[in-house]
Amino acid sequence: MFVASSGRCPSVQLLLLYAGCFLLGILPFDAPRHAAVAPPVSFSFDFSDSSTFNPQDLRLQGNAKHGLDGKLVDLTCNSIASIQNCTGRMSYAHPVPFYDDATGVVASFATRFAFRVILPAQGSRVKKGDGMAFFLTGYNSAIPPDSDGGGLDLMNRGLGLAYGADRFVAVEFHTYNNSFDPQDSWDHVGIDLSSVKNRANGNVTSLPTFSLNGTMTASISFNGSTRRLVASLHFDDRPSVQPVEVSAQLPEPITALLPPDVEVGFSASTGKQVELHQILSWSFSSTEKRGRDSLMAGAGQRRFRYRDLVNATDNFSEKRKLGKGAFGAVYLGTSLKGQEGQVAIKKIFKGSLGGPNNFLDEIKTISKTKHKNLVSLEGWCCCSSGTWNLMCWCCQKQDHHKIFLVYELVPQGNLHDHLHKEDTVLPWHTRYKIVKGIGSALLYLHHECHPYILHRDIKPENILLDNDYNAKLADFGLSRIANHNNATVVTDAVGTRGYMDPQCMKAGKVRFNRSTDVYSFGIVLLEIACKCDKSREGVWNLYSNEVAEHMVEAAADERLGGNFDRAQMHRVLVLGLWCTLPDGTQRPSMQDAMRLLEHDNTPLPDLASPAGGSST
Ligand SMILES: *[C@@H]1O[C@H](CO)[C@@H](O)[C@H](O)[C@H]1NC(C)=O
Ligand SMILES: *[C@@H]1O[C@H](CO)[C@@H](O)[C@H](O)[C@H]1NC(C)=O
Ligand SMILES: *[C@@H]1O[C@H](CO)[C@@H](O)[C@H](O)[C@H]1NC(C)=O
Ligand SMILES: *[C@@H]1O[C@H](CO)[C@@H](O)[C@H](O)[C@H]1NC(C)=O
Ligand SMILES: *[C@@H]1O[C@H](CO)[C@@H](O)[C@H](O)[C@H]1NC(C)=O
Ligand SMILES: *[C@@H]1O[C@H](CO)[C@@H](O)[C@H](O)[C@H]1NC(C)=O
Ligand SMILES: *[C@@H]1O[C@H](CO)[C@@H](O)[C@H](O)[C@H]1NC(C)=O
Ligand SMILES: *[C@@H]1O[C@H](CO)[C@@H](O)[C@H](O)[C@H]1NC(C)=O
Ligand SMILES: *[C@@H]1O[C@H](CO)[C@@H](O)[C@H](O)[C@H]1NC(C)=O
Repeated sequence: MFVASSGRCPSVQLLLLYAGCFLLGILPFDAPRHAAVAPPVSFSFDFSDSSTFNPQDLRLQGNAKHGLDGKLVDLTCNSIASIQNCTGRMSYAHPVPFYDDATGVVASFATRFAFRVILPAQGSRVKKGDGMAFFLTGYNSAIPPDSDGGGLDLMNRGLGLAYGADRFVAVEFHTYNNSFDPQDSWDHVGIDLSSVKNRANGNVTSLPTFSLNGTMTASISFNGSTRRLVASLHFDDRPSVQPVEVSAQLPEPITALLPPDVEVGFSASTGKQVELHQILSWSFSSTEKRGRDSLMAGAGQRRFRYRDLVNATDNFSEKRKLGKGAFGAVYLGTSLKGQEGQVAIKKIFKGSLGGPNNFLDEIKTISKTKHKNLVSLEGWCCCSSGTWNLMCWCCQKQDHHKIFLVYELVPQGNLHDHLHKEDTVLPWHTRYKIVKGIGSALLYLHHECHPYILHRDIKPENILLDNDYNAKLADFGLSRIANHNNATVVTDAVGTRGYMDPQCMKAGKVRFNRSTDVYSFGIVLLEIACKCDKSREGVWNLYSNEVAEHMVEAAADERLGGNFDRAQMHRVLVLGLWCTLPDGTQRPSMQDAMRLLEHDNTPLPDLASPAGGSST
């Protein structure tokens, strides 16, 4: 049932630093989630330069092939043998968001592509066909049967209308004069809605016969709020020919046209008449569906603008830096537009997050967690650092994006500083409150969240304190979006003590489960209760060799000057030892642990007995 992350385990040190929390259970790290919506997409492929695209991002079907030694993509046959009756498609291999089912909000997109039509030598009569199209159809669609010739590889020639999974929206560049096409010429550009025959709701513009010849560039944009689709075509080989444009407003309801996630690409066909259809380059970018924002808002999340974050942090200046963790540096944000009070803004290190497809899902998961002992996420920002700077076309290629998480500012800093500072000593009642606070946050993450969430990096630096010294656990949920195969993530972090379960990195494998979190919790308890120099082994020796009262006196932090509740101290020490038993199966669950902390009459386990540490 457990899905463990695994990877090389260079050293304990590294693992210690490998921060965050990881979701276990049914969902493996990068499995597609049923509820996931396709993220916005942005790419730019030049088919003459193989470094600009990854073949895995393209789906070729039918007769489509990388042609001319990989310099372009032939959509239909290009061979010495017959090139009649061919169909072929090239599409982007991943789903593209079209609208959000929950909110009905529609995405916008823009695409531009250079293509070439090569006509056969003409005899006394016109012989050429059939043409090609840019299409949107249901993701993972198949070429319909009998869609060669006039079907443009989009629909069965025998049908009037495509339906179900075959529905499409297309811009056709058609070079053949079928009975259902404009009769004044052979060439036309048109907008098709699930039919190449009936453009009742679409638009079609005739072009002089033989216009669609040679290299051309098309730009197509779709505005999700106005539902207006505009396609324009430039004749690159004949600058004297005026560009043409067609446009149409897609009809309501948009949900009747296509499913929420679509496949985008090109189709082409030949029939008895032939020609070549070649794609030379293709760029595409879709905006997020604004529905995401409203969904995020529903989850209590806000999306901040990059420029507001820059303003709030003095352009992320050093003097605003509050600290640095495994996933990023944290800055103090003041007067952040739209946000009351101060915030902590975490700038995620480049490359420290993987699975960008999951980024928003992960944010949603984190944001659904609400607990008084968890630091709350106020919002986020994801900006492209490339051409689309500041436009937040989230988040297709993580390398090209900056990701920020905006958290509530927890004013008193972290527990590590409070435990180890020279001048003041945290009194016992505060420490006990902190212990219960962390315990209750972990109980929530482990047993009340569905699916449950692991923290994976429990240590005093990640436990923040508010003005009333309530503990707030930070940095949870992040490793769900962390690239757990990338060991470089961990080298940036701080942390030197052994909070990591030694059992979880056996044989070079890292395996996290609830009991590894429990281990870290136990180490933190011992650190809260004991003298700074007291190791777990030291406390264990006291436990196994001394009577309880002696152990408490010998182990307790002497800076408390004996001012503590002995029964509580005893409980915390024994619980710390129980949580850190070498055998993970003998450790308590967080439910057991909280029972012990909240009910003074819960009997303490006898850890020294052979079955020591089993649940009481
Ligand atoms: C192409 O398809 C048409 C119609 O189905 C058929 O009449 C013709 O023989 C086919 N040509 C080839 C070369 O297969
Ligand atoms: C288009 O086809 C129709 C029917 O075959 C024909 O009458 C018409 O002349 C054709 N148009 C052109 C411009 O050839
Ligand atoms: C297509 O364009 C090429 C180059 O511009 C030209 O040589 C050729 O004659 C054209 N073909 C037709 C059928 O017009
Ligand atoms: C869509 O059209 C509206 C109204 O003209 C405009 O305000 C908005 O900026 C357009 N959106 C895009 C992505 O072009
Ligand atoms: C067809 O496209 C042209 C050019 O963009 C536009 O002027 C016209 O309004 C469109 N017709 C319809 C029915 O949308
Ligand atoms: C930046 O923040 C200050 C308040 O700290 C505000 O007065 C100013 O207008 C902001 N500038 C921009 C560009 O938002
Ligand atoms: C912020 O700092 C970066 C370099 O760190 C600089 O390139 C940029 O111009 C600065 N922006 C502003 C608004 O000062
Ligand atoms: C890990 O991330 C760093 C920084 O982004 C990157 O340079 C490196 O190639 C990555 N390593 C692996 C194995 O993915
Ligand atoms: C958790 O992992 C540890 C170390 O790999 C193992 O000893 C323990 O049995 C596991 N616990 C559960 C509940 O699977």
